[in-house]
Amino acid sequence: MTALYLAFALCVALAAAMESRITAPGCGQTPARSLASHRIVGGIEADPYSWPFICSLQYSGSHICGGSLVKSLDGTFYFVTAAHCLDRQARYYSISCAVHDRFGSNPHQQVFDISSYVNHEGYNANTFANDISVMALKSQPTETNQLQPVCVADSDYYGGETAYVIGWGTLSEGGSAARRLMEVSKPILTDSQCRSAYGSSYDSSVMVCSGILGVGGKDACQGDSGGPMVSYRNGGWHLVGVVSWGYGCARPEYPGVYADVFSLRNWLNGKIN
Ligand code: ARG
Repeated sequence: MTALYLAFALCVALAAAMESRITAPGCGQTPARSLASHRIVGGIEADPYSWPFICSLQYSGSHICGGSLVKSLDGTFYFVTAAHCLDRQARYYSISCAVHDRFGSNPHQQVFDISSYVNHEGYNANTFANDISVMALKSQPTETNQLQPVCVADSDYYGGETAYVIGWGTLSEGGSAARRLMEVSKPILTDSQCRSAYGSSYDSSVMVCSGILGVGGKDACQGDSGGPMVSYRNGGWHLVGVVSWGYGCARPEYPGVYADVFSLRNWLNGKIN
């Protein structure tokens, strides 16, 4: 009787654990991260290969957006990016992963064609609501120190939580795009702070914003779209936001706005598992 009860309790616990996990274990690690340092606007050049889940999304060979590799429960890699990055057939896109300098030699680089992708059915090109898309790859990556999947946020963010945003986007509003991967850290803001900046344009049910209110200076910008905003939680990097929009870049009163991955994770789960 006790054994039966224990077995039952174990099943319940396992079911609960399975429910909260939508990607394979072992995600969010940064094996190639050096101790050296630890731009985008107001950021620094990333340590080469220190963000092994970011890839450059390319349209006929040129960089258009960022995005992140995730690994489904059955071990299949997918690429998560912004819906607003995509408006053509899958065959025009590819992703370039394990790259630091877009124009340099990249011995660890792995490139993948896209077999199909699906934008969130609720994506609205006018409001940028549900600005998320998931792409399936024609071939599967080899996991290396320089290529690893990110974890998907399995809990909500909190105001003041430190997030990192990574990308090859412009180094200033209207400036030119980065050649080498840049990173910036900035605090996630509460929904009421985001709403006070943007009013009803900010949809708290599917968006999250970050920045230093009244100061600015640190942000994503053009070309960073689709890329990751991550937070280090429980021993791994978790995808909390997808770069989506903002009024200008890094302006003091206008934080960057991201698709809210935790609130969109059930959608993502349905597409990858
Ligand atoms: N929409 C831009 C892109 O396509 C990204 C904008 C992010 N802006 C910001 N201020 N955080 O690359």
